[in-house]
Amino acid sequence: MDHSLVLRPATAADASNLAALAIQVWLHTYATEGIRQDISAYVLSEFTPSKFAGLINNPQYQILIAEINHHLVAFAQIDFASEEHPTLGSVELQTLYVQEAFTGQGLGSKLLAYCEEIIASRAYWLTSNSNNHRAIAFYARQGFVQHGVTYFEFGGNQYENKVLAKI
Ligand SMILES: CC(C)(COP(=O)(O)OP(=O)(O)OC[C@H]1O[C@@H](n2cnc3c(N)ncnc32)[C@H](O)[C@@H]1OP(=O)(O)O)[C@@H](O)C(=O)NCCC(=O)NCCS
Repeated sequence: MDHSLVLRPATAADASNLAALAIQVWLHTYATEGIRQDISAYVLSEFTPSKFAGLINNPQYQILIAEINHHLVAFAQIDFASEEHPTLGSVELQTLYVQEAFTGQGLGSKLLAYCEEIIASRAYWLTSNSNNHRAIAFYARQGFVQHGVTYFEFGGNQYENKVLAKI
């Protein structure tokens, strides 16, 4: 891993880069058959600089970023007041996205460890698409176990997600 790696909380100045990286990673991970209208509408409305700026300014959320040579290469988003799985706690790791060229180099593990520093020793959970085998294998190696499933509604379809936590 490059020694110029910097892990830090996002600031408002990172909002555009976060939107661009989120679109790139989301499309690479989920738009595996190409682009269609509901996909483009989703990423262009969900991952906008103004939405990221709002999250960065909202104390309910924490966005942590990884930069290499002053370029954004990964980010994580934590929600400290999620109500979806109360038995697993109120802290949700909503996003852990590494740009494809930087995967498999320990970056996801480092960013996850940084998230856990910020989360301190509170319980937290996350969801991962059941077909996202790389992510599920990554989380299993990190000690996560499954706590049921949840469904992500998109384009009139439901997509199964595994609910994962270390507890
Ligand atoms: C899932 C994801 C976050 C994992 O991130 P990553 O940076 O590839 O993960 P890491 O490199 O830390 O770990 C993956 C493997 O890389 C390998 N690796 C190579 N060099 C390494 C190093 N220097 N240190 C640690 N692991 C290294 C290891 O085999 C490691 O596997 P292990 O856990 O058995 O040790 C990333 O693939 C990603 O962002 N995917 C797209 C978006 C996504 O699916 N996000 C999750 C949605 S819930």
